[in-house]
Amino acid sequence: MGLLIRNADIVNADSRSKGDIWIENETITRIGENLDAPPNAEVIDAAGRMVFPGFIDPHVHIYLPFMATFAKDTHESGSIAALAGGTTTYIEMVCPSRNDDALEGYQLWKSKAAGSSACDYAFHMAVTRFDDRTEEQLREIVADGTASFKIFLAYKNFFGVDDDEMYQTLTLAKKLGVIVTAHCENAELVGRLQQELIAAGKTGPEFHEPSRPESVEAEGTGRFATFLENTGAAGYVVHLSSKGALEAAMAAKSRGVRIWVESVLPHFLLDKTYAERPGVEGMKHVMSPPLRDKRNQKVLWDALAQGFVDTVGTDHCPFDTAQKLMGAAAFTQIPNGIPGIEDRVNLMYTYGVKRGTLGLHRFVDAASTRAAKLFGLFPRKGTIAVGSDADLVIYDDAYRGRLTAAAQQTNCDYNGFEGMEIEGRAAVVTVRGKVQVRDGKFVGERGRGRMLKRQPAYF
Ligand code: URP
Ligand code: ZN
Ligand code: ZN
Repeated sequence: MGLLIRNADIVNADSRSKGDIWIENETITRIGENLDAPPNAEVIDAAGRMVFPGFIDPHVHIYLPFMATFAKDTHESGSIAALAGGTTTYIEMVCPSRNDDALEGYQLWKSKAAGSSACDYAFHMAVTRFDDRTEEQLREIVADGTASFKIFLAYKNFFGVDDDEMYQTLTLAKKLGVIVTAHCENAELVGRLQQELIAAGKTGPEFHEPSRPESVEAEGTGRFATFLENTGAAGYVVHLSSKGALEAAMAAKSRGVRIWVESVLPHFLLDKTYAERPGVEGMKHVMSPPLRDKRNQKVLWDALAQGFVDTVGTDHCPFDTAQKLMGAAAFTQIPNGIPGIEDRVNLMYTYGVKRGTLGLHRFVDAASTRAAKLFGLFPRKGTIAVGSDADLVIYDDAYRGRLTAAAQQTNCDYNGFEGMEIEGRAAVVTVRGKVQVRDGKFVGERGRGRMLKRQPAYF
């Protein structure tokens, strides 16, 4: 039947133009002025509204066994939350623990998503142990279309790898042409500092940050960069939160190391005083790396505006109040993570573009296009162009509202950004040409999402 979007103000990462968009068989097949459509076509008038390429969240956790519990979303609830907030593709971390079989883990994560997600999705495969079977298993996983890896330098004995395993993973990644994403914190230091703080009776959530200070993240980032330099692999630092870590990544980049940087929503807008709130309020804001001293926020916003921070993800990882309270006696037992998939686009638009110094095109780049390019999804995703999937966000720039847990789709009883104002939200969201959201509400087809198979990028 086809879908015609009339009078669109088309905003890509590198261009802005007015026109109509014609969609057939899930794909954009024409862009131009005054396009004709057959009488049975669905027509949406976007007059006065910007139309963005569907936004991409490059770092989410949906199914996640972690810290003796499970993150709360399913692919159904998480994808509906994503879509309500304008995100049409997410990349989930497949995180089997160190004691699990990698290939079995990969199949398990795939089975959780299959037929459940309302938007498209892909995976980063976490390498949480490197043994005799790992190379063969990772080759099979890459051949299946999961062409990016994840390593954790933190979370010793659970997800974490040691330096030798990092070396082996990066060496293999280089051979396969696969980018490696990394959580960069020094696990040994975190362990020691946690022990000292707990032994001193410093058990509340306000001590989570002192147990993983900025220097611990800077060290991890610098070490990851040094291993990239010596293996020739391409790497991507996830959820970078602080100035020293950024400097370590930029110093490596200036030496020619192929390194890219992601920061995530909470670190732009929240600071460590949120985790210093009494009781469960503080626990809600425990994540790793932790919320930082406020001075880091300007560093991140400036680096984002200039493109030194390449992408903005969420590290969406919802644990509810009851789960957070598992750490009432010791901050080391608080499940780490905070939801954000639903709010990333509107908060970054509001506090970056409308109220800050983030350029509109850089916003589109950081929240969509650059992730598509880095992770082998471009130009299918991340741009409005003939031949691309018709994942579109018609944006209502005049909308005014406040975020509340009560109104969210995410399966969590709190919102870490509770009460924050937003200026703008998605009026219409399409996934491969089908309208999935109108005015912030899911109106579409559950289970429409497909796994996106990606080729190695050979950076
Ligand atoms: O606190 C966080 N970030 N939880 C999710 C696991 C991770 O490190 O990404
Ligand atoms: Zn992490
Ligand atoms: Zn994560």
